[in-house]
Amino acid sequence: MILRLAFILFLVSSFTVSAQEVTRISVQTNGGQHIINKNIYGHFAEHLGRCIYEGFYVGEDNDVIPHTNGVRNDIIAALRELKVPVLRWPGGCFADTYHWMDGIGSKGERPTIVNQWWGGVTEDNSFGTHDFLNLCEAIGAEPYLAGNVGSGQVKELADWVTYVNHEGVSPMADLRRANGREEPWNVKYWGVGNEMWGCGGNMTPEFYANLYRQYSTFMTDWSNSSKLFRIASGANVADYHWTEVLMRDVPKHLIEGVALHSYSFVEWNDKGSATDFDEAQYFSTMQTALKMEELVTKHSAIMDQYDPEKEIALIVDEWGGWYNVEEGTNPGFLYQQNTMRDAMIAGTSLNIFNNHADRVRMANLAQTVNVLQAVILTEEEKMILTPTYHVMKMYNVHQDATLLPVNLSGNNTYEFKGKKLPAISASVSKNADGIINASLVNIDATERREVELLVPGGGKVSGTMLQSENLQDFNSFDSPNKITPQVFKDFKQKGDKITLTLPPFSVVVLSIANQD
Ligand code: AHR
Repeated sequence: MILRLAFILFLVSSFTVSAQEVTRISVQTNGGQHIINKNIYGHFAEHLGRCIYEGFYVGEDNDVIPHTNGVRNDIIAALRELKVPVLRWPGGCFADTYHWMDGIGSKGERPTIVNQWWGGVTEDNSFGTHDFLNLCEAIGAEPYLAGNVGSGQVKELADWVTYVNHEGVSPMADLRRANGREEPWNVKYWGVGNEMWGCGGNMTPEFYANLYRQYSTFMTDWSNSSKLFRIASGANVADYHWTEVLMRDVPKHLIEGVALHSYSFVEWNDKGSATDFDEAQYFSTMQTALKMEELVTKHSAIMDQYDPEKEIALIVDEWGGWYNVEEGTNPGFLYQQNTMRDAMIAGTSLNIFNNHADRVRMANLAQTVNVLQAVILTEEEKMILTPTYHVMKMYNVHQDATLLPVNLSGNNTYEFKGKKLPAISASVSKNADGIINASLVNIDATERREVELLVPGGGKVSGTMLQSENLQDFNSFDSPNKITPQVFKDFKQKGDKITLTLPPFSVVVLSIANQD
C-alpha cells in the first residue's frame, strides 16, 4: 500500500515538474485594438564607415558592381525583398554636422567636409539628397530625414523641407528642378536634430525643447498628400527626465513623435568581440536588449500623462547590438559581424515593439549596411545577408497587421549563474486576410523549450525557423548561407492547441491560416 502511494506521489510530482516546464502562450484572437505600424520594421543609414560609401553607393562610374545611379542593384533587390518601410538618413551624429546644400548640384563641384564623428575621413558629398530620396523610391521605403540642429540653422532646415516638398514656384523648388527633379518627393518624416543630449550639442532638455519649438514652427507642410511628421530628438536609454521635459514643454501641435535610443552590449566600455563571446557575455547582451521592455513601458507612461490620447508616437530610431569592430578595420567605422546573438536581439526587440504598438509607431535598426547590427554586409562585389536580415524578413508578416494580446504563463526562465531572464518572448498579429502570425523566440543558450500556443479557432499551421548549431555562428563571405530560415515542422496541433519545441537560441514564426 505504502509502495503504491509512493508511486502515485512520484507520478504526480513528475507530472507537476513537466507541466511547469511548458511555457503557455494564450492568444486573444478577438482582442486586437492596435495596428502594428509597419514602420516598426524601419532601418537607419548614416554617413558612417562603409554604410553609404562602399556600402549602398559605389558610384555612377563603377563598372564592376552592377548599380542604378551608383546604388548597388543587389542591395536594392535585398531591401525590396525585406519590405523596408522607412529609412532614416543621414545620421546619427553625422546629421548635426551635415549641411544638405553641400550634397546637391553637380557632383564634381560639391564641397568636401571632414566627417568629425566617424574616422575623420573626407566626405565628398557625392551621395546627397537626390541620391538618398531616389534610393528610397527604388527600395519602396519612405524617407526619414534627420535635420541639423546642432550646427545648423532654422532657415537651413526650413529650406530643406521646401526643397524636397514644395510643388509650386519657389526659390527652393526651382533649385530642385534645376537639379533635375520636377516632382516633389513629399517627405513626411523629419527628425529635428539627433542625440541633442550628446553629439547633437550636449544640450539640456529644457534648452532643446525651446529650440525644438523654434525649428518645428518653420517646418512648413507644403504638401496635401503627407502631413509632416516631426520627431524630437529623444532620450538616451533611461533618461526619463528628457522625455518628461519634451512632453511638458512642447505644444502638441508642433510634435508628432519623440525618439528614444538604446543599444545592446556586453558592457559599454568593454564591448567584446561580435563573434567570439561566451555565455556570460551573451547573457549580459540580452539583459541590455530586454531592458527595452522597461524603457518603452516607462517612457510611454510619461507620455501617457501628457498625451493620454496617444497622438504622439514613441520612435525608437536607433537600436541594435554594438560590439568591438572586426580586427583590422577602422575603429571609427563600426564594422561588426552578426551572429545568432544578433538574431536573438532582433527577435526579442521586435516582439517588444509589436507588443507596444499603441505607442511605438516606428523603430530604426542601426544600421542597414556594414555598420553595427547590419542586415547586409559587403566586400567589394560580394554581398551577404546576416541572421538579423532573416529575422526581419520572417517578421515582416506583422507589418500593418492587428496586434493580438497574448498571455505568457508557466515556466519561462533562462537562468545563468543565479541571474534570470525570460526565455521565451512572443508577439502575435492577425493580417487583413485573417492569417494569424506568431513570432516566438527562445533566447536560452542551452535548453530547448516546450511551448503550448493556444489559438482559439485553430487553423492550418505552417512555420519557419532560424537556428544554428552555435550561438556564435554567422554568415561569412565564404559561407554566405550558413544561417538561413528553414521550414519548421516540430509542432503538433490538437484543436486550439499547438505544441511545439523551440531549440536553444531560435526564432520561429508560425502562420495559422484562417479556417473559414
Ligand atoms: O549609430 C551610431 C551612432 O550611435 C549614431 O550616430 C548616434 O546617434 C548614436 O550615438
